[in-house]
Amino acid sequence: MHAELACFEERCRARFPIDEVIYNCPRCGGLLEAVYDGAPQPAAELRALWRARRTSNAPLDQSGVWRFREIIPFLPDYRGVVTLREGDTPLLEAPRAAEYGGLDRLVFKHQGYNPTGSFKDNGMTCGAAQALRLGMRRVACVSTGNTSASMAAYASAAGLQPVVFIPHGNIAYGKLAQALEYGALTLQVEANFDQILALVMRLAERLGIYLLNSINPFRIEGQKTIMVEMMEQRDWRSPDWVALPGGNLGNTSAFGKALREMLRMGLIDRMPRLAVIQAEGSAPFYDLMRAADRSRLPRVEHPLTLATAIRIGDPVSWPKALHEVTVSGGVVEKVSEQEIADAKAVIGRCGIGCEPASAATLAGIRKLVSAGIMRADADVVAVLTGNVLKDPDYIYRYHTGELEDPAGNRIAPNFGNRPLVVPNDPDRIAEVLGG
Ligand code: F0G
Repeated sequence: MHAELACFEERCRARFPIDEVIYNCPRCGGLLEAVYDGAPQPAAELRALWRARRTSNAPLDQSGVWRFREIIPFLPDYRGVVTLREGDTPLLEAPRAAEYGGLDRLVFKHQGYNPTGSFKDNGMTCGAAQALRLGMRRVACVSTGNTSASMAAYASAAGLQPVVFIPHGNIAYGKLAQALEYGALTLQVEANFDQILALVMRLAERLGIYLLNSINPFRIEGQKTIMVEMMEQRDWRSPDWVALPGGNLGNTSAFGKALREMLRMGLIDRMPRLAVIQAEGSAPFYDLMRAADRSRLPRVEHPLTLATAIRIGDPVSWPKALHEVTVSGGVVEKVSEQEIADAKAVIGRCGIGCEPASAATLAGIRKLVSAGIMRADADVVAVLTGNVLKDPDYIYRYHTGELEDPAGNRIAPNFGNRPLVVPNDPDRIAEVLGG
């Protein structure tokens, strides 16, 4: 396969060598994507090959990303790949969450089972591999937390120096802790995600640092495998819907690209519809879908949400995401802080758990079902993007009734589970336990 970078803009489509260090099209400023020329292997052969690799002990085959390497063929060879055994995440049946959402059945694809606890690992193994191939020494990202945790781990494992830029005071503690533990030089900037991204885009070239934000097309290639693995786990039967949270919209772009490519390769026979869910206070993509003019994103100057992972007002990948949602016949919904918090507790009660941004999926599904957009008997997979332990502070506050939304309104602990303080007294404890 011959791999190149191509401008995503329909009116441009300029091509560039796969090993050029660029993040936007040098001609028109559009987003870039990896494209491949050459006939892919027949679908039946690929399915058999990918299935056979499940029994292999080779590190590359044990990765839920590189096991599918024929669908992400941007590297000349695989010697420089660092895998922490990313991917291989389960599909989990969740009857209680289904009932809450108004569905007969609901399955979660839980990306929180990844080595650093989020879907970012699927993309980061590819981004780090490309950085090594380009001979880079330092890599950087701007992050609401998970990207920095993931990049820190993969860069350190690959012998690269990770530099992390995060909004001061606005990321979950678990994620900041990971960046420090994995050895990233961590800069807490007094600005929001969008402002810092603009700053770092300017700094990257000047300092010779390779950027591993989701604007990096190789991260998008890795995140495609989330959909490939999901289809394989379903024996290549497409669901009706795939629901996911939307922040910087890299995942929406990756999922759409993966689905289109799988359809073209004959791996699946129809596209599922994408349902992208945003938090009400950070919902520029929701607004775009309802705007008369979809050529410009109505960005949100001061995005707000307790789901800090998706607190983004100016998502870079919106042109790709718009294309993917449109092509898939998808929808974009937004949900309130209360809806996210309650949905999250319901996912917890399933014994599954996730971080706040991930729970936007179930909250969105509930809204879409009650609006009649999603049918109760629809076949739905919701992607849980991050692990429950990423943001323990949020959880404790919710269950104890202390959680407040960004405007200072108290979130009702509708599914609260307050810990009880009891004396060191067997009779009193027995009383509490009803015995
Ligand atoms: N869910 C979680 C847990 C995330 O960390 C993110 C993004 C999203 C959803 C949204 O995904 O940006 O592809 O639309 N987190 C990024 C970060 C922005 O820096 O960790 P998206």
